[in-house]
Amino acid sequence: MNQDDLKRAAARAALAELVPGTLVGVGTGSTVNFFIDALGETPERYAGAVSSSERSTERLRAAGITVFDLNHAVQGGLPRPVYVDGADEIDPGRHMIKGGGGALTREKIVASAFERFVCIVDASKQVATLGAFALPIEVIPMARELVASRARALGGEPVLRAGFITDNGNQILDVRGLRIADPVALETQIDHWPGVVSVGLFALQPAAVVLVATALGVQRLA
Ligand code: 5RP
Repeated sequence: MNQDDLKRAAARAALAELVPGTLVGVGTGSTVNFFIDALGETPERYAGAVSSSERSTERLRAAGITVFDLNHAVQGGLPRPVYVDGADEIDPGRHMIKGGGGALTREKIVASAFERFVCIVDASKQVATLGAFALPIEVIPMARELVASRARALGGEPVLRAGFITDNGNQILDVRGLRIADPVALETQIDHWPGVVSVGLFALQPAAVVLVATALGVQRLA
């Protein structure tokens, strides 16, 4: 089994988590792309989607799936039980680093609008401690150097993601060298830095369910 087979297996397993007649929140990334493909084949399993990026929206629409605006979904009180997304790293507490694909802010917004985060990963994403993967921080451009200096003060090495602008018109700093012993505390701390739009730590709202694909099958952790 190659890595794409594993990603596809985790993505297909997430179909069983959906609640027919309700909206599904859809993340961003190569694993989620397999999930969107699976959604396109099983329209009976959901009533529509809320998307976390322009890329996912385009793929959802190409698969014939109705994409709801988040404001409309919230205002209309439409049921939103399950959000499905990948991760760059996930620890045993089901805290995640996300944002390798640059969609962290909308992912965090949409995830927070749903009851349960279902994380779909292959086993290579599981780590004992977060931080080997560079931590993405979306910043308002004028605050980039200020945020970078604060990341350096924590022992991190921030690097501007070259040639990349987020769906929200902002920049991303990828911060290497942080060993994240307390993800909840670090997310809270960085969230308070002026100029930070969001940090790719998903610890305050960890995954409720993790579907981990291995060569032996998909393991469900909850
Ligand atoms: C995008 C993300 C993705 O979920 C994360 O980067 C994992 O991507 P992939 O499934 O391609 O490995 O956070 O912002």
